[in-house]
Amino acid sequence: MNFLEERILKDGIVKEGNVLKVDSFLNHQMDIALFDEIGKEFKRRFAGKNINKILTIEASGIGIACVAAQHFHVPVVFAKKAKSINLEGEMYVAEVESFTHKCKNQVIVAQKFLSAKDHVLIIDDFLANGCALQGLIQLVQSAEAAVEGIGIVIEKGFQSGGRMIRNLGYQLESLAIVDSMDAEKGTIVFREQG
Ligand code: G4P
Ligand code: NA
Ligand code: NA
Repeated sequence: MNFLEERILKDGIVKEGNVLKVDSFLNHQMDIALFDEIGKEFKRRFAGKNINKILTIEASGIGIACVAAQHFHVPVVFAKKAKSINLEGEMYVAEVESFTHKCKNQVIVAQKFLSAKDHVLIIDDFLANGCALQGLIQLVQSAEAAVEGIGIVIEKGFQSGGRMIRNLGYQLESLAIVDSMDAEKGTIVFREQG
């Protein structure tokens, strides 16, 4: 078991409806020493990749991406969620469907911050159905930039996003993959990773 899986077992709370609450250390209160370990591990897993930019999405991705960026020495760009866009300047726009919130949103990035010269590492906190990730990939493609890899903190392996993204051929590294969890028993089963 790795450091993150240990922390999830210690402080994560399994809620009804297959929701894992990690707000005491990941996406509300944030343990920055843990974020630093996460950043270090992303750096290790994407060693040898030529990465000059990290792309994430507001809100919970930003803190993780910023701490990780200190290990890559690159800037972070975060995609903004927009209900209705007023196109101030040139923007890349992608549609993102949220299963949790049952709505469609647009995610946007200013064209001046993503270009064909960029080699991008995408980072986010959760991967479930992969809708947010598909939106981020679409933004990178719109810029004709390259997706060098995707780093996720917690993947819900029983939802379809991970398989879909790996089938597209991307190097997707999830530091913890939850294969199942049980709210009543409070148990979490992680996928063995090599
Ligand atoms: P998807 O992008 O993978 O398809 O995810 P989905 O629509 O199912 O999830 C919507 C939001 O819920 C995402 O945050 C995602 O990170 C989060 N999420 C999904 N499953 C869990 C879970 O088990 N636990 C927790 N804590 N979060 C989960 P968001 O609302 O888009 O972003 P943010 O503003 O919170 O960063
Ligand atoms: Na997120
Ligand atoms: Na979230």
